[in-house]
Amino acid sequence: MKILVTGGAGFIGSHTVVELTNAGYEPVIIDNFNNSEKTVLKGLRRILKRPVKYYEKDCNDVKALEQICKKENIEGVIHFAAYKAVGESVEKPLKYYENNIGSTLKVLEVMLKLGIKNLVFSSSCTVYGQPDEIPVTEDTPRKPAASPYGNTKTICEDILRDTITAGNPLKIIALRYFNPIGAHPSANIGELPRGVPSNLVPFITQTAIGIRQKLTVFGNDYNTSDGTNVRDFIHVVDLAKAHVSALKLLATQQDNYYNVFNVGTGKGNTVLEIIKAFEKVNKLKLNYEIGPRRPGDVEKIYGSVEKSEKVMGWKTEKTLEDSVRDAWRWEKKIAKNKK
Ligand code: UD1
Repeated sequence: MKILVTGGAGFIGSHTVVELTNAGYEPVIIDNFNNSEKTVLKGLRRILKRPVKYYEKDCNDVKALEQICKKENIEGVIHFAAYKAVGESVEKPLKYYENNIGSTLKVLEVMLKLGIKNLVFSSSCTVYGQPDEIPVTEDTPRKPAASPYGNTKTICEDILRDTITAGNPLKIIALRYFNPIGAHPSANIGELPRGVPSNLVPFITQTAIGIRQKLTVFGNDYNTSDGTNVRDFIHVVDLAKAHVSALKLLATQQDNYYNVFNVGTGKGNTVLEIIKAFEKVNKLKLNYEIGPRRPGDVEKIYGSVEKSEKVMGWKTEKTLEDSVRDAWRWEKKIAKNKK
């Protein structure tokens, strides 16, 4: 079964391409390399021992999208392609609404036109905002998003749900990701942030390798065990495998199906716990200091993954130690490749 992977050269997309191939699917990447690098294709080739099919196109280009889907006989789509920088989205909301919502509409348009039924959509735990109770379940009411980026995820979920409510012959799963970290254990692919990373783990690894002088922990006066934020950090390979489970579940469903699933570990860790795990597993000391809170951060969030386990038959297999070890291996590999 051929699966179009929009944004397939990105962090989560590339790891999903590997897991799709391992599970016997044939992934076809469409990526405009706006926030990803061509070197990812080499990394994928090393892991898969053969080239991966890709098109350097923007999935907002509806004509190209349609042509590729026809030519490749695409039977399912995983739609990752989106902008994801929270801060930038506050400054340039229209850029985010246009790209993230526009591309989702175009994917749906082409799928309906060509009779492609299966869609897995990248959503985010950001749709829960700061929840009143944790862990959040899929039934926890969504809250108004804290950023235009977050709002694009909420709106796209609504668009998908309404498309199904209207009776269209599609089968759709939205996966609400928690915080993906780590890298492929082979260190052939991983996260490649452009410029100064805004996410925690790439900032940690870049500090450890000497690209950044010091990590600032954004606040230690939260109502948590050590005062720092709590997140549900999930190994990106586990997260990638959830897409395979989602496609398998879609295959067992009748047309006109919509469901949402949390994709996390079911467990929260504080920022300091991540730093300590990183130091312990990799036997090094990280230069960090406590700084002020970062505006827009939620205090704590992690998800229940009971529904994902019961309905999709998916759960995580890797540990936090695996994640911080693989993240560090990847950072060292990037440094080696630069030499
Ligand atoms: C963020 C987004 C989320 C998005 C995800 C994409 C917000 C509010 N949420 O998640 O919607 O889906 O990125 O990757 O921005 N931290 C530090 N120092 C740093 C960097 C981070 O202390 O230099 C802390 C943060 O305060 C936070 C935790 O680490 O508590 C995780 O931060 P980050 O990796 O940016 O992810 P989220 O903010 O959870």
